[in-house]
Amino acid sequence: MDLLVVGSGFFGLTIAERAASAGKRVVVIDRRSHIGGNAYSEAEPETGIEVHRYGAHLFHTSNETVWEYVNRFTSFTSYQHKVYSHHDGVVYPLPVNLGTINQFFRAAYSPDEAKALIREQAGEFDVKTAQNFEEKGIALIGRPLFEAFFRDYTAKQWQTDPKQLSGDIVSRLPVRYTYDNRYFNDTHEGLPTDGYTAWLERMADHPNIEVRLDTDFFDASQPLNKDAIVGTVPVVYTGPVDRYFDYAEGELSWRTLDFEQEVVPVGDYQGTSVMNYPDAQYPYTRIHEFRHFHPERDYPKDKTVIMREFSRFASRDDEPYYPVNTPEDRERLLRYRALAEGEDRVLFGGRLGTYQYLDMHMAIGSALSMFNNKLEELL
Ligand code: FDA
Repeated sequence: MDLLVVGSGFFGLTIAERAASAGKRVVVIDRRSHIGGNAYSEAEPETGIEVHRYGAHLFHTSNETVWEYVNRFTSFTSYQHKVYSHHDGVVYPLPVNLGTINQFFRAAYSPDEAKALIREQAGEFDVKTAQNFEEKGIALIGRPLFEAFFRDYTAKQWQTDPKQLSGDIVSRLPVRYTYDNRYFNDTHEGLPTDGYTAWLERMADHPNIEVRLDTDFFDASQPLNKDAIVGTVPVVYTGPVDRYFDYAEGELSWRTLDFEQEVVPVGDYQGTSVMNYPDAQYPYTRIHEFRHFHPERDYPKDKTVIMREFSRFASRDDEPYYPVNTPEDRERLLRYRALAEGEDRVLFGGRLGTYQYLDMHMAIGSALSMFNNKLEELL
C-alpha cells in the first residue's frame, strides 16, 4: 500500500482515483457500510425511485477542470433545479425574484419599481449596525419578505429565535429583479444519468484501489487504525478533524438533519422536487419528492417517495451536516489546524477534515489540487 485514504466521499475517492491512476496502490477505508459519503443514493425498494439518503444532492459547477474530470465517470441529465416555498397557503417561486414579489404584493412591478419598494422596506434597519439576524435580514430585503420566507424558516433551522442569532450568519439574501428562478447560476448543472452511486462506484473501480467498508480508522482492532498506520505511509484523512485529535481542543459544533421518508400512493405529491415550508406551524423545513429529479426515468405512476427534512443541533453521535461556525469554533479550528501541521505525512481534507461546508464540485476541486500540490510529492 502506498496511500491510505480515510473516507470514501467525493474528496477521498478523487484522491484515491488520482493516486491509483498515477500507479500507486491505494486502500480506502470507510466506517459506513457503503461508499460515497453523503452523496450516496439508493433505489427505494417499493418504487425503485432513487433516494439521496443524506439529503438532496444537485450537481452544479462553473469549474471547467472539475467538469471535465467528473464527466470521465458519468454523464449528466439536463435537470435544472428550482425551489418553491409554501407560505400561508400559497406557493411562491424561490429564490425571491420578480415573480415572488409581484405575487406576494399582488402587483405588476417593473424591475425598477420592485427595487425601489424593497429599498424602502429594507430602510427600517441599516446592514452595518444591525444587532442580530432578524435586523440584518430586514435590512437586506425588508420586513414583509423577511418575515414570510426567512424568519420562521431560520428559527426552525437553528431552533433559535432569529433575534437571538448573530447577524454574521447571513451576508446576503438573494433577490432577483427578473423572473428567473433557476436556483443555481453555474455554467454546468445536472444529475448523474445513472445515479450517484453508479458514479461513485466508477471512481473506485480501478485495479489499484481496494475499498474496505465498515472499517473505522479509530478502531484499534482493525489493522489500518490510526496508531498503527500514521508515520508508516501517507494518509489522507477526510473524517472530522476534532475526532482525529480526540477532541483535545474541544468539539466543533454542527447542525444535523433528520429525514422522514414516506411512500405516498399518488403519482405526484407536490409537482416539483423541493418545496420549502417556511411557516412555524410546520415542524419540517422542506419536503423533497425524488421522482422529479429524474423526469426522464420510467418510475411508477401510482406511487411516489417524499422526504420531510427537520433541522437541529448535532450531538457527537449525530451525522454532522452543516458547520455552525461560532467564534469559539473558529478559534478551535485554528488550533486543530496547527496540530494537523505537526502530523507526519497526514493530509486533512474534505468537509469534515477542514470543518467547512463544501459543495460536491468544491470537494472534488480541492481534492484535485491537494493531489497536484501536496500529495504527489509524498507518494
Ligand atoms: P463526505 O462526508 O461525503 O465523506 C466523508 C466520509 O468519511 C464518510 O463516508 C464517512 O463515513 C467517512 N469517515 C468519517 N470518519 C471516519 C472514520 N473514523 N473512519 C473511516 N471513515 C470515516 N453538494 C452539492 O454540490 N449539491 C447539493 O445539492 C448538496 N446537497 C447537500 C445536502 C446536505 C444535507 C449536505 C449535508 C450536503 C450537501 N452537499 C451538496 C455537499 C456534499 O454532501 C459534500 O460536498 C460532499 O459530501 C463532500 O464530500 P467529502 O468526501 O468531503 O465528505
